[in-house]
Amino acid sequence: MFDIKDLYQEVIVDHNKNPRNFGKLEDATKTLEGFNPLCGDRLTLYIKTENDQIQDISFDGSGCAISVASASLMTDAMKGKSLEEAERLFDQFHNLITSDDELDLEQMGKLAALAGVREYPARVKCASLCWHTLHSVIEGDATPVSTE
Ligand code: FES
Repeated sequence: MFDIKDLYQEVIVDHNKNPRNFGKLEDATKTLEGFNPLCGDRLTLYIKTENDQIQDISFDGSGCAISVASASLMTDAMKGKSLEEAERLFDQFHNLITSDDELDLEQMGKLAALAGVREYPARVKCASLCWHTLHSVIEGDATPVSTE
């Protein structure tokens, strides 16, 4: 029988194997590093904004399958968003992976593939590494982000 979890698994595997928006963005206006001290994984986020809008965004570095898939899905979802929309999506994603609330998975599109990490606290850090980094960039914080 078709199981939605299989589909989500496929999305994560695909985005880990073929990460979208991977590589340095040469004309980035902001760059920030995110670090998970528990495992040593590190991602750098590159973002180009103009008039409070995300024109382009990419990432590089190394991380586990969940952190790479999350960064790939996030960068795909963030292109063209205003900073205000990006912050709203950050809140929605945070809720998706940490709260016990009923979820509107459809509203989250492909990002819903990461909803399952809410059952594994250690993986929440993996999935949120790039998101917290983006949040800091938007807030204007230049300090490298640590998940601790
Ligand atoms: Fe390092 Fe997931 S195990 S970020």
